[in-house]
Amino acid sequence: MRGMETSVILSDGSRCLLRSPGPEDGEAVLRHLRRVAAESPYTAFLPEELAGTLREEQAFLKGQLASPTRLMLACFVEERLIGLGGIGPAAASRKCRHRAELGLSVRRRWWGLGAGTFLVEALCREGAHMGYQRMELSVMADNVRAIALYETCGFVRCGLLPDAYRTEAGSQAAVLMSKAI
Ligand SMILES: CC(C)(COP(=O)(O)OP(=O)(O)OC[C@H]1O[C@@H](n2cnc3c(N)ncnc32)[C@H](O)[C@@H]1OP(=O)(O)O)[C@@H](O)C(=O)NCCC(=O)NCCS
Repeated sequence: MRGMETSVILSDGSRCLLRSPGPEDGEAVLRHLRRVAAESPYTAFLPEELAGTLREEQAFLKGQLASPTRLMLACFVEERLIGLGGIGPAAASRKCRHRAELGLSVRRRWWGLGAGTFLVEALCREGAHMGYQRMELSVMADNVRAIALYETCGFVRCGLLPDAYRTEAGSQAAVLMSKAI
């Protein structure tokens, strides 16, 4: 699915354009994911796990644009990709097709300027247009920044999955969050 193109002024005054990334953005998307995984302990993946080729990433992005149930949105400041978010089915079965799962990342240099909020709000809006009725996510329990952002956007905590992530720092629970859209 291709999302609507929108823009917003971030709190430092820079203009941020939101649009769905296509195959032509493959290199920027891969670079973003690798850098975010290196900058933050809170991604679900390690930088070395992002070993896919540019061609594979381009095919993936093409598939996302063609899919009726999946959507990605990227934030660009002066044509530089600074944030990325996506939604897709939370589960494959028809009984669960009202539920979408959300993922999100912003480059550290742009944290705290509103880009994360802009992405979550746009993903919830687009998700509702796509027919989803609930948005869900799981987040590491000590990722206070992300949890605060999701609560500001209307998500509520609905459970705790113990020992969900194992990092060098130890085991971490996942906070499960959900929002009706
Ligand atoms: C979580 C993340 C996406 C937030 O993006 P962001 O662009 O910084 O988000 P925003 O600027 O919109 O800030 C949103 C909220 O974060 C919270 N926040 C900001 N700084 C904070 C801090 N130091 N401590 C706690 N909460 C904080 C606030 O609630 C803020 O909202 P407000 O400024 O309106 O009060 C970003 O930090 C990130 O990509 N982190 C690494 C990857 C990650 O954790 N992804 C989420 C996995 S589930």
